[in-house]
Amino acid sequence: MAEQIIVNKNLSDEEIYKTIIPQIENLINADDALISSFANFTAALKEAFDKISWIGFYFLKDNKLVLGPFQGKIACTEIELGKGVCGTSALKKETIIVENVNEFPGHIVCDSESKSEIVIPLLKDNNVIGVLDLDSYEYSAFNEIDKIYLENLCNLLMKKIRLNQLHNLIV
Ligand code: SME
Repeated sequence: MAEQIIVNKNLSDEEIYKTIIPQIENLINADDALISSFANFTAALKEAFDKISWIGFYFLKDNKLVLGPFQGKIACTEIELGKGVCGTSALKKETIIVENVNEFPGHIVCDSESKSEIVIPLLKDNNVIGVLDLDSYEYSAFNEIDKIYLENLCNLLMKKIRLNQLHNLIV
């Protein structure tokens, strides 16, 4: 696998996504342990975008989302389905963009400096297996461009994994 992500921070967000998507695709390797692919996925995106203060996975287990690989400060280890932005996204099977976290009823604070957020559900055969959560210290950091490309990236990831691998990851 490549040893580094090559990214030109002078490009627009959309151009950055276009240059890193193939690189991230190469990082997700069937020969690697699944946890390694998830971990590198978060590291690559965090490195590519300065606006991301925290990025990580939560995986659904027994109606709770449990913290998976992430980049950033320590975070809540469990979120109930339907609670917070993550739990709401998982329940509704929809991406949620929050321009100002203070205005989202029930937002769960992991880092008091966080201002905005986007959560993408991870859908495998139309079942939610978890979410990808990104936070920012800037208000309105995430928009429709992020939604489109992050959903594409999550779909790519879901296509490459097998469910039994995931079960082993979160027992
Ligand atoms: N803010 C999230 C909780 C997870 S952290 O931001 C890492 C939420 O409301 O679900």
